[in-house]
Amino acid sequence: MITFENFRIFKYETVESTNDVALELISTTKFPFVVVVAEEQTKGRGRAGHTWHSQSGGLYFSIAMRSGGISADSRLIVYSSLPVAETLKDYGLLPRIKLPNDVYIGKRKISGILGERKSDYLIIGIGINVNQKEFPPEISEIATSMYAETGKTYDRDEVLYNFLERFDKLIRSPESHYEKWLKFVSALRKKVSFTYRKTRIEGFVEHIDSDLNLYVNGQKFNIYEIFDFREP
Ligand code: BTN
Repeated sequence: MITFENFRIFKYETVESTNDVALELISTTKFPFVVVVAEEQTKGRGRAGHTWHSQSGGLYFSIAMRSGGISADSRLIVYSSLPVAETLKDYGLLPRIKLPNDVYIGKRKISGILGERKSDYLIIGIGINVNQKEFPPEISEIATSMYAETGKTYDRDEVLYNFLERFDKLIRSPESHYEKWLKFVSALRKKVSFTYRKTRIEGFVEHIDSDLNLYVNGQKFNIYEIFDFREP
């Protein structure tokens, strides 16, 4: 176990999903924040029941916290894309946030986030494509990695610590991160489409407020409930 700022970090070789291990550890220890990192996942999960391909080379981790206080703040699930984007920018990349909380480089996804509430806990699971040289055929056209973008390999612990340093600031005051987060969001003033409560919505993004509502065609949509978001 490693301690970094507020976080107790547990490292594993292979797990089914770091989200599940983080839930187990937070519910059986007294630590306020538990971070679980794995070299590989055999059942990595994405949003909407998707699989998250988790072969060696990527950074797969989950942060679990207890209910009450900061973990009551669901904005963290969406805002966690900010420390990811800032970290990638630090390495010279030009990331953008695709709603609700994916991080893209151009048209290709480099990071995904799965926020889960289980009993009294909040678990935020993050996958960042770091050193992957190739991807399975079904995602090879739509995924990218830090290596694919720059031709360099990276120390994944360093990437993780870089992220955690920023995440630590985020959990101290999520509300003060709205402006910074919005700067990375690429959907503002664009024509988009998405699924909301089983209905496909299409229109122009007029505004995104700090309570994380999206305003399209004069209507308000909660960002947590947006799926399959498309923008040009
Ligand atoms: C998505 O883009 O749909 C979310 C992907 C989230 C993947 C991460 S990898 C670490 C953590 N463990 C999981 O099973 N999923 C998340």
